[in-house]
Amino acid sequence: MRKLDTEDFATNLSANEHFQSVVERAVSRRGFLKIGAGLGAAAFLGGTLAGCNGSSSDDDAATPPPGTDPEPVTPRLGFSAIAANSGNAITVPEGYVADVLAPWGAALFASSPAWKDDGSNSGAEQARQVGDNHDGMHFFPIDGKSSEEGLLVVNHEYTNYEYLFGAEGEDGGAGWTLDKVRKAQHAHGASVLHIRKNAEGKWEQVLDSPYNRRIHGNTPMLLTGPAAGDPLLATSADPTGSVVLGMLNNCGNGYTLWGTYLTCEENFNGYFGTTSGADSRDAHQRRYGISGRGTSYRWEEHDARFDYVREPNEANRFGWIVEIDPFDPTSTPKKRTALGRFKHENCAMTLAADNRVVVYMGDDQAGDYIYKFVSDGKFDPANPHANRNLLDSGKLYVARFGDGEASGDFMGDGEWILLDKAENPILAASNAFQSQAEVLIKARLAADAVGATKMDRPEWVAVHPETREVYCTLTNNSGRAEGDTDDVNPRAANRYGQIVRWREAGGDAAALRFEWDLFVLAGNPVAYADRSDLRSGSDNVTIDNTFNSPDGLAFDRTGRLWIQTDGNFSDAGDYVGQGNNQMLAADPVSGEIRRFLVGPDGCEITGITFTPDLKTMFIGVQHPGEVGSHPRRPTATGGLAMDDFIRANPTAFSNWPKSQWPDVVGGGRPRSAVVVITRADGGVIGS
Ligand code: FEO
Ligand code: CA
Ligand code: CA
Repeated sequence: MRKLDTEDFATNLSANEHFQSVVERAVSRRGFLKIGAGLGAAAFLGGTLAGCNGSSSDDDAATPPPGTDPEPVTPRLGFSAIAANSGNAITVPEGYVADVLAPWGAALFASSPAWKDDGSNSGAEQARQVGDNHDGMHFFPIDGKSSEEGLLVVNHEYTNYEYLFGAEGEDGGAGWTLDKVRKAQHAHGASVLHIRKNAEGKWEQVLDSPYNRRIHGNTPMLLTGPAAGDPLLATSADPTGSVVLGMLNNCGNGYTLWGTYLTCEENFNGYFGTTSGADSRDAHQRRYGISGRGTSYRWEEHDARFDYVREPNEANRFGWIVEIDPFDPTSTPKKRTALGRFKHENCAMTLAADNRVVVYMGDDQAGDYIYKFVSDGKFDPANPHANRNLLDSGKLYVARFGDGEASGDFMGDGEWILLDKAENPILAASNAFQSQAEVLIKARLAADAVGATKMDRPEWVAVHPETREVYCTLTNNSGRAEGDTDDVNPRAANRYGQIVRWREAGGDAAALRFEWDLFVLAGNPVAYADRSDLRSGSDNVTIDNTFNSPDGLAFDRTGRLWIQTDGNFSDAGDYVGQGNNQMLAADPVSGEIRRFLVGPDGCEITGITFTPDLKTMFIGVQHPGEVGSHPRRPTATGGLAMDDFIRANPTAFSNWPKSQWPDVVGGGRPRSAVVVITRADGGVIGS
């Protein structure tokens, strides 16, 4: 997420009411007590267990590799919780060890250019180095089962100009040049990193491996599926509407049951503006948040395809989920248009009862929606190659959450509404969509038309490995108005966020109806000691685990739920006692939540994956050193704005990870990185 948090501003100006929001609700704290932990949750989970078919299928828990003993399904939180803090280091529980891997600018190939501490690496050099702002990631065992060697694929969401360039920044020195645009584009995308444990048990990159690969903002890729070739995707450089240069703002991720990586384009809108000096956006461009004039990235000044006046369809080629085969470095990434175009956070794949593939997805913006895709074809575990194009044909649905039998109890029911031009009568009758391709390209507008529920910024989705219950973080929504709340988004001016979970009817992921409840209502009992105040959070929030803005989310194979935060790190006011962004582990049955890790200053924690034996966890530390409202932010001197001060003094706030690991090659300025977590005794993480 960018520090200029544009996701907080709704672009959803549709007339949809929040579901049942006209109903006056006296929110019942007593009702909530029954759900937050204990009996209510256990009863729901028991019901889900009875209804599920029991085969595990998803997430890092999903497919225990051959030869791996399954862990017991009963989750246990076996570590000692750590305290919140605002220090400039990763902190982990006693008995755990953290190490750093592949920071921004590190070598990716044996021939990679050396990192330069002064920010002077060129655009061409950046294309052969690890990208910036690590986010979603997945570990692919090299042989399908190894916990010692594999391919770690890591997203690079965006970049911070105050650190990306040297002291001259954007305007000084040689000025704002095409090479600087290229450097920024090449800092985006994803890295495929071949890694293995060395003789000392330390994970390191295999720099001479043919698997290492950078995919960035100029890498050729294909549009596939129902919208590929549509005139709305054609540009002057690509009249076919099927070949795109690059992927952008790769936020969270998913992965498939056939061994490929899914990477999700989130705030692609931020790269598209115009130098024309006039705002000529249409309603569709406004709904997706294309800038009316210039952008903060300033690519439109040197690269015409990012000027929406000159190339009005280029932005339509971004905002998709991209599938990458990490084991074939010559393969062309594919943007799977059947999954719809919006600000994709991450995605989570599971199987329907009849083995169709189901993909859950969130659209991260205030007042936007939760979606799911159900493939037409069925997954064939005996024939992996036959599954390769399952994501090119299927049905796209959007969620409507209802309050259920009672309001104010933080539970309810819901339905999946089909976004199909032929089969949904509303879309069939609409002149706004000429084809199913247009429904997919303008998925937000189609979802507006059918009355989806406006959510508090849907972030990551995760599927429980056994019950197939689906969890989704709703990170916050400070703009939600009084009178616009509902059971699933129950607070106006929601600063803390919540996690919703749902159970599909009959335990079938392809079902059209579901039941839901809130797993946790994040809050701050330090700031709000009165536990009847919803801002204090649900009962499973305490002064010891308080956090805001849940974002990254994943189950491990045993059913432990890992929660990562990207929120306010001021440690003051509404956020007092919460410290830096962090990661927590939760027991989905008891509702217990414990703080497992605290990140360095200015970062968010995002991206998570495990080795099959669950003895190594990899996470992303993104944008360390973003100053924001941090309690130890420096004072900008010389009359400079903070970004200008940092540009001139790039270590004034942070030089993490160098500060924690002095042997990091280079250093000099804060750098996003993968952090590797193990246990000193070699045990399973979290147990
Ligand atoms: Fe890239 Fe919504 O976080
Ligand atoms: Ca209800
Ligand atoms: Ca995120």
